[in-house]
Amino acid sequence: MAVKAALVFVAVAVLLAYYCDQPVPEGIAEPRLYAKVQGMVFRTVQNLAKIGEYLGVGTEPQNIRSVMETIVNVGLKLKGSSYREGLKCTDTMFDGVKVRVYEPVSAAQSGSKVPGLLYFHGGGWVMLSVDTHDPLTAHLAKQLGAVVVSVDYRLAPEHVFPAAFDDSVAATKFFLQNAEKYNVDRTRIGISGDSAGGNLAAAVTLVLAKEKDLPKLKTQALIYPALQAINFNTPPYINHGHLNTLSKDRMVSLWLWYLNNDLSFKKVFEANNHTGVQIKKSQYAGYVDPEVVDVTPIKKENVKFPEITNISTILDPRFAPLMADDADLKGLPPTYVMTCEYDVLRDDGVMYARRLGKTGVKVNHDHYEHGFHGFLNSFDDYELAGIAMQNYLTYLRKNL
Ligand SMILES: *[C@@H]1O[C@H](CO)[C@@H](O)[C@H](O)[C@H]1NC(C)=O
Ligand SMILES: *[C@@H]1O[C@H](CO)[C@@H](O)[C@H](O)[C@H]1NC(C)=O
Repeated sequence: MAVKAALVFVAVAVLLAYYCDQPVPEGIAEPRLYAKVQGMVFRTVQNLAKIGEYLGVGTEPQNIRSVMETIVNVGLKLKGSSYREGLKCTDTMFDGVKVRVYEPVSAAQSGSKVPGLLYFHGGGWVMLSVDTHDPLTAHLAKQLGAVVVSVDYRLAPEHVFPAAFDDSVAATKFFLQNAEKYNVDRTRIGISGDSAGGNLAAAVTLVLAKEKDLPKLKTQALIYPALQAINFNTPPYINHGHLNTLSKDRMVSLWLWYLNNDLSFKKVFEANNHTGVQIKKSQYAGYVDPEVVDVTPIKKENVKFPEITNISTILDPRFAPLMADDADLKGLPPTYVMTCEYDVLRDDGVMYARRLGKTGVKVNHDHYEHGFHGFLNSFDDYELAGIAMQNYLTYLRKNL
């Protein structure tokens, strides 16, 4: 045990020293220290998780999850829980799915109905939780005077697609059907999420738009969402794929844990060899990359894929919302998209906003030239993240 502990200690020290040395792009938001420290921690966690798996201590995704959550939870302990004042927070179940409900006390006393917001936390479908996002979701409930439901969907790789998606749909439907119990106006319910949570929010919105017997979602607000897995060579993947805050290496692993928990083809995905010429010249390629023009439309059922488990799922909009046809995008509710320059997922969000706008959906797009992936969670800690939070809240106040 002592030997193992010593090994881990040495590994941490070496990795930290190494990542301290990694440059952070000049353009990243002040204080750049945040991006640097956050990146250093993430990268170190990732490598320790791999070392752990190698030493026979848990799998890589399990290790990433437990270390990340430990770090975040220590941060939360230090923060205290005063940020929850004025809220009633309840952990409960919505149709078999765990959720945390935040009800502003003032809203309950006022007697009139309030808006509602479903929130899906980020973490690559693999890590983080309603706990790690507690300050953010509590802040939304307070600032909006809305009932916020933070959904504790099942995580990959223990539960691959469509588990997280199914949970997200079930919780959303339940809230729409039972809004009155929470004093919520069912015609004023929106949906939101960051990163993998933005993916789930977008996927749920696409599917529920087709349901006839439910109230319509009032808006979707997508924070640097992950929306496609057919092209890992978009300009941000090429230019910022090395960033420690979210590297291409990390993002491809996360997609694969969610898809089928099989990383043996990771290099094939990274090289964009998981799709053939057919897809690369099809409408799907055009959905991701505006440079791809003169596409040859293909039907999903005619696409030839390499022999990889469940690979055809990458064209399923419930898994990758950017794969939705224009006909599916038409009629979606007003949409807010937040993107960051220093983020491999930049163009996922940029292209979704552009395509929605073209099909006539009302879109508000905030792009942060100096922002980086995950920065919104630091809304309390530094200026640009605080400004981004304000702009996001302003949108929600007007559109919920
Ligand atoms: C393949 O996809 C189906 C449904 O889309 C899912 O139920 C199944 O668990 C997946 N298998 C693997 C190995 O990912
Ligand atoms: C990807 O495909 C190209 C062209 O067919 C090939 O040269 C390259 O070795 C492949 N790389 C991987 C990792 O599959």
